Amino acid sequence: MMRVYCAKDYDHASRIAANIISAQVILKPDCVLGLATGSTPVGTYEQLVKWYEKGDLDFSKVHSINLDEYRGLSPENDQSYRYFMNTHLFNHININPANTFVPDGLEPDADKACRRYNEIIANSGGIDLQLLGLGHNGHIGFNEPCDEFEKETHCVDLTQSTIDANARFFKTIDEVPKQAYTMGIKNIMQAKKVLVVVTGEGKSDIVKRAFLGPITPQVPASVLQLHNDVILVGDKAALQDNFNDYLSK
Ligand code: GLP
Repeated sequence: MMRVYCAKDYDHASRIAANIISAQVILKPDCVLGLATGSTPVGTYEQLVKWYEKGDLDFSKVHSINLDEYRGLSPENDQSYRYFMNTHLFNHININPANTFVPDGLEPDADKACRRYNEIIANSGGIDLQLLGLGHNGHIGFNEPCDEFEKETHCVDLTQSTIDANARFFKTIDEVPKQAYTMGIKNIMQAKKVLVVVTGEGKSDIVKRAFLGPITPQVPASVLQLHNDVILVGDKAALQDNFNDYLSK
């Protein structure tokens, strides 16, 4: 089942997403959060930090498992997803750093890195709430368009469009990693609840294709139509009038 919330703008969408994550943490203080990077969740994390600072949230028993990491980047590299998570969220809340997981970008043995990550996911007891952004080509995590849905954590060659989209964060295009370790579609689909946040007009076409178009590995996010508990939070610019029939009443 899909529930859709249409926010006025980015900040409003961020607050709705943060509210949903907060509710999860309040209802199950030892929950497992699947977390995401990218520019979209920045506002969500900012809001969670604010509520934490107010004393409204306690992350001391929460575990987190991130979707993906660039292959070859160290946690200290300011473009690594580990660095992103530390600076946008983990350093500002009382989550135990030992309970936060991001694939090991420095593990050169891809099989080993992916196997270890699948074990971490399995040992966590399962992800209660998976936060997702949406790539312009429909990717989730770094599951790029391909011929079949990749199941578990794997090493992926990033597509040129993803490399180009990420180039804005690096000094030169050559510094943009070409590969990443990412959770697979099966890992994501096994999350009990999935929260997708999509904002901005630039995503309006892909969000429509992902949630209202055919289910195909060429649009990886389209598989979420088969998940039984998906919440889509978008702003007006991203959702346009395409989702009016789905809006939560
Ligand atoms: C990256 C991440 C994704 C993210 C996507 C969209 O490729 N691996 O998890 O959803 O970018 O990013 P943004 O939110 O900046 O549009």
